[in-house]
Amino acid sequence: MKSNSEGSTRIDEIANGIYRISTPVPPSDMPGGFTFNQFLIVDDAPLLYHTGPRKIFPLVQTAIASVIPLQSLRYVGFSHYESDECGSLNDFLEAAPMAEPLCGAIAKMVTVDDIALRPAHALSDGEELSLGAHVVRWIDTPHLPHAWECGHLFETTTKTLFCGDLFTQGGHQHEPLTIKNILNDSEEMRSTLDYFSHTQHVHELMEKLARNSPRILACMHGAAWEGDGASLLRQLAGQLAG
Ligand SMILES: [Fe+2]
Ligand SMILES: [Fe+2]
Repeated sequence: MKSNSEGSTRIDEIANGIYRISTPVPPSDMPGGFTFNQFLIVDDAPLLYHTGPRKIFPLVQTAIASVIPLQSLRYVGFSHYESDECGSLNDFLEAAPMAEPLCGAIAKMVTVDDIALRPAHALSDGEELSLGAHVVRWIDTPHLPHAWECGHLFETTTKTLFCGDLFTQGGHQHEPLTIKNILNDSEEMRSTLDYFSHTQHVHELMEKLARNSPRILACMHGAAWEGDGASLLRQLAGQLAG
């Protein structure tokens, strides 16, 4: 594992070849504090999942460059179209000439092919993509937790589910990877900031994610979590009204 000093962007390997990049935002800048996390899969075809907001592009860029050359990125993937998921998409496409946006079919059709410098590589529901030793699978989850185009990526060899805004935890100081119960913290966050869409399909979509039996939940905000991911997803589903 490698990281730099507390209070600044850090990068840690949380699974074989999978790095978590995390930038803390202190309570003085955002009530309660917050984190923005991106994930880097280092392989023959390196994949960055989430770019972070444009304002932190220099920090994310530097973190990636401490592990691989930025220009070697092959895919820049994201769950849905929001600033923290893909605000720096074009900055990364400029820095990495071979990189393609990677997203679901709805995101490509509705937004990405209009705003991105290059056309998106869209994955259909359940489609897999080999990066070399790692294989990622796209899972469509419209409106879960929000956005029509929303989906989540699952890395099959490490059983890592890049679960985006699911299990969002407040605060700006987190371990990179924890086994502590993150559900209570994320439910506390949700009680003050209801970021779920309340889709009536919430239970079938959560079950669709759980069926992949993830071992690591790579959260976009807060700590990544290691344990019985299917069980934790089902516990969260039990709290959600559809
Ligand atoms: Fe979001
Ligand atoms: Fe997010």
